[in-house]
Amino acid sequence: MDSEGIEKLIRSHLAGFTGYSASTSPDTLAGKVDVPLDSIIKMNANENPYGCSPRVLQALTDNPHFHIYPDDGQQELRKLLAGYTGIAVEYVVAGHGSNTLIDLIVRLFVGPGDEVINCVPTFDIYRFSTEICGGTLVNINRDEQFTVDVKSVKESISKKTKLIFLATPNNPTGNIIPRRDILEILDTGLPVVVDEAYYEFSGETVMPEVSQYRNLIVLRSFSKWAGLAGLRVGYGVFPPRIARCLMAIKIPHNVSVAAEIAVRESLADIDYLKDRVKAIVSERERLFDGLRKIEWLRPFPSQANFIFCNVLKGNAAELHRKLQKKGILVRYFDKPLLRNSIRITAGKPEHTDALLKALRDIGE
Ligand SMILES: Cc1ncc(COP(=O)(O)O)c(C=O)c1O
Repeated sequence: MDSEGIEKLIRSHLAGFTGYSASTSPDTLAGKVDVPLDSIIKMNANENPYGCSPRVLQALTDNPHFHIYPDDGQQELRKLLAGYTGIAVEYVVAGHGSNTLIDLIVRLFVGPGDEVINCVPTFDIYRFSTEICGGTLVNINRDEQFTVDVKSVKESISKKTKLIFLATPNNPTGNIIPRRDILEILDTGLPVVVDEAYYEFSGETVMPEVSQYRNLIVLRSFSKWAGLAGLRVGYGVFPPRIARCLMAIKIPHNVSVAAEIAVRESLADIDYLKDRVKAIVSERERLFDGLRKIEWLRPFPSQANFIFCNVLKGNAAELHRKLQKKGILVRYFDKPLLRNSIRITAGKPEHTDALLKALRDIGE
């Protein structure tokens, strides 16, 4: 069969599929920026500018066992995560980043024709995984402050609804969903995925509710607060029966030995990491104040490690390009519900200073 013949065999709904648009990596920018690649300031992917704990680096250097597969049952890892969250081990499942857990949850619940409620604008992976599984997205618009419309969420529930996604803090807008709203949605009895990838920056969680609500799933990540984005490790807390099903359908050995070590050492160095989180939160507030003083930007208050801004004068794509030329990467959006806007990751103090100066220079 020739390659065109093979293409005809692709599942029809995936032939023209719109993938996830990931952030630009500095390695791809040679010749496109006015600074050396290693001095690029990366404020486009909500990574932790301080990196991981030094204990992680040391333990990875010292480990002689990378030729051995990790424990498929994640026993040590789940125990560590149970200790961190205060939730019993049988509720916990770890993944190669929380993205893969989102994908796994959708694969467990959603088939062709099933509906998934999504409060937009929000993290695009909920759409991505739902569409790959042939599910139908039921998009509920947030209001102008990006608050979730609980009434519309409840009214949109049908016999086909299989999952409701709630990101808190939300990406890219940074706002949290009030606890009473989450509980009201949980009272529908449908599976509700509360994505707390940025929990350590907001301090707000519904994790303790998992023992009360048999339909609550909480997802967390080590990418942001613990600086492990490159090692890929996230986890979720699920009703135990769901956790068992997920353990059964996950790809074997889905968390690497390196990631397991990194979790163990991060949790052993929690005070160090929490101090870094504090520094990022205070820098987020300084960044917010600085952005507010630029009259052609409208920043939104955030409880995550980034700030979403409307660009009120000029064009966000152009602003993104000009900042990139100066060696500062931010994320820009120009699509329905996210018109002419940018998202800036909170960095170190010198990153804030460089960004604010660049914005002022561009605005002149
Ligand atoms: C809301 C939200 N959930 C989940 C993730 C995925 O995180 P990871 O797969 O790195 O754990 C992200 C990453 O940007 C996110 O913003």
